[in-house]
Formats: sequence, C-alpha cells, structure tokens
Amino acid sequence: MNQRTLSHAAQIVTATTADFPADMALKRYFVEKQYLIGTERREVSRAVFAYFRWFGWLNSKVSREAQVEQAVELSINFAKDPKSIKEPALAALAVPEWLKSEMTVTPEFIRQLQQEPPLWLRARPGHGSKLMMALGDCIAAPSSPDSIRYKGSRDLFLSQSFKNGDFQIQDLSSQLVSVIASPKPGETWWDACSGEGGKTLHIADLLQNKGVVWATDRSLRRLDVLKTRAKRAKVFNYRSKPWDGGQKIEDPKNPGVMLPGKLPFKTKFDGILLDAPCSGIGTWRRNPHARWSVTVEDIKELAVIQAALLKQVSELVKPGGLLMYAVCTLTHAETTGIFDAFTAANPEFIPELKTVNGLPADPLSKPGSLFLWPQAVDANGMYIATWRRSKA
Ligand SMILES: C[S@@+](CC[C@H](N)C(=O)[O-])C[C@H]1O[C@@H](n2cnc3c(N)ncnc32)[C@H](O)[C@@H]1O
Repeated sequence: MNQRTLSHAAQIVTATTADFPADMALKRYFVEKQYLIGTERREVSRAVFAYFRWFGWLNSKVSREAQVEQAVELSINFAKDPKSIKEPALAALAVPEWLKSEMTVTPEFIRQLQQEPPLWLRARPGHGSKLMMALGDCIAAPSSPDSIRYKGSRDLFLSQSFKNGDFQIQDLSSQLVSVIASPKPGETWWDACSGEGGKTLHIADLLQNKGVVWATDRSLRRLDVLKTRAKRAKVFNYRSKPWDGGQKIEDPKNPGVMLPGKLPFKTKFDGILLDAPCSGIGTWRRNPHARWSVTVEDIKELAVIQAALLKQVSELVKPGGLLMYAVCTLTHAETTGIFDAFTAANPEFIPELKTVNGLPADPLSKPGSLFLWPQAVDANGMYIATWRRSKA
C-alpha cells in the first residue's frame, strides 16, 4: 500500500469518533476529495476498516500512518493464514472484554470477524442466473439462486445492471429476513423500522405487485433514500410515512401518568416486520469501528426500546397474520430476552418460523426463532423471530 493511501486512511481514522463512525467519515472525506477515484477509494476504505479490525494489536506509540500500515499487514497475513494468530490472544484483542458476558462468543465467531466481509447482492426474484451471467465472478447462496455473492473487483455502481435496477446491494442475512417472512401476493405488510428500505424493497418484490408494503421510520432522510432506491428499482407497490415509534408521552392532565404511544395506522396488516434498532454486533465484521463504540449500557437501553416497539406494532397484526422481529445483533438481551418475554406475555402470538433450505441448523435457536451466525452463513449475524396471531 503506498504512502498516499496510508495518509488518506490515517486522516479518516483521526476524524472518526463514537458519534461519527468510520463509514460516515469515509463518505464525507470522499465528498471533499473528489479527485480520489474508484480503485483508490476502495484501497483507502480497506485500510480504514483494517485499522479498526486490528486496533487491539496496534502500537499506539507510533504515528497513525504507521499504525494503519501495521493493520493492513496484519490483515494480509491473517487472510493468507487464519491460524497464524492463536487463541486466546485473538479473542482478547479482537473484541471488547465485556462481549462474552452479553452473548455466546466462540473462536469461530472471532475468526470470521477478522476477515474482510463478502459482498452480497440481491437479484430481482427469478433473475439470479441472468445477473450472474451479466456481472461474472459470482456464486449463488445455498439458500436462494437470487442471493448472489460477487467476488470480482469491478465497481458495480458503474455497471449497466445497477443502472437498470437489476440488483440491490444487500447482505445475505438481511435478504433472509424477507425470504423467511415470505409475503404472499395480495397481502398488506408494514415494515415498521424500514430505514433506507433494504427489506421494504425485497418485500415489495416478493408481493409481485399484487399487494402493498408500508414503510415507516423516524428518519426522514432514510425514507428519502428509500424513495430514490425504489424509483431506480422500478418498485411502485410501497408507501411510506414517518413514524417515531410512537414514544409514550406524559398525560398533560395527569403529570406522572404515561399515555400509550400513537400507532401510525388504524387498519391491521397481514404481516408486520419490526427490524428494530439494535447494537449491531452482527455487523462488526463489515463495520469494525462499532466494536469500540458500543457499550453494555447501549444494549440495555436498546432492549427496552425493542420490547416497547414490538408490543406496540403487534397490536396491528390481523388475526391469523404474521409478526416478525429481526435484529442484526446476537446479544442475549436483544434476542432471546425479547423473544421469551414477548411470547410469555402475549399468548395469542404463537411462535412459528418458516424454514429455508440451505441454512445451517443451530442448537441455540428455539422453535419460532433463528440465529444466523455470521461464521455459518458468511454474512452479517442476525436474529429472527416470528409469531402467528391466533385467529380467535
Ligand atoms: C436496523 S435499522 C433498519 C434497517 C432497514 N430495515 C433495512 O433493511 O435497511 C433500524 C431503523 O430503526 C429506526 N428507528 C430507530 N428508533 C426508532 C423509533 N423509535 N421509531 C421508529 N424507527 C426507529 C432507525 O432510523 C433505523 O432506520
């Protein structure tokens, strides 16, 4: 890696803070430095992510540039020989100390965290093989011929297939959420924390233009990105509106008494997906900076928000309809903790999860729920739970 790339990467690393994560710092830097082109941008990004992935090993007494260089070397050596770093040093330096008290941490989990992440694409339903031919350097996931892993080095944003809206860049585990939700043509769905609409667009595709999916999020900016993406993908069977989760508010007439939060709809849905805000530990391979900014307090606070959002959205599931909870994290509190508490308190919601061929079995997943371990699926870690509302 040349000195120029190291210098760019070191400047971005220095600009990164807990509130200004590495991916945002990279985006802003590239907007400011328009002269950096595709290949060099990719090299700089890889160096920045290598820094945070190998942060625990770096010598803090040398310059930032020298640290980035060290990280890149460690990354290359580890890719050549993943056994070159032995346990327990790997676990001790790759993740914060508190992690093992919050989730099941195995050597395999840690080892995958130290590798560069794969790039997953989602083809339009039934168009996987056509897309693989158009792009080259692709393989399909065992779970679906439309989930494609791209192994080449072209800038896919410049490809004709991207301009045509033939694929979305979407992690495999994220794709599996909508595959497991399995919306049927003619149904009405609500994607309650839609963000930029990764799953909204997938659900809309699976509805085959016969049915509608509503997208809500508290971020107007994210809903705007969803609109741009939907336009390019020529997806029209969706609607969106802002919703902040209907946070409970204090009754102005009775101070201290909390009124229930407001739901954004009066109608009920065939299916509701709550892809809740979470600690994001399942994305730590792709997003290594977050390893050093998430705290145990964040996990506790998020679990409270997740439980409240789940209870709230569940009210709008039709009798016989499906409720789905998904988080790209693996902590006990945000996964089984939420599942067990909701199931115990809401007997009219019966755990029921559709299986998908090609997914590895997992002894930690209880009936009605599923852990997608990153080391098993070669994608983000994800937890999914689904319940069917009884018809009575
Ligand atoms: C995990 S992300 C969603 C990702 C998205 N479903 C996708 O597939 O691209 C969680 C989303 O929840 C939103 N969010 C956080 N707190 C919220 C709240 N109280 N009410 C509504 N949305 C919220 C965030 O803005 C964020 O977009």
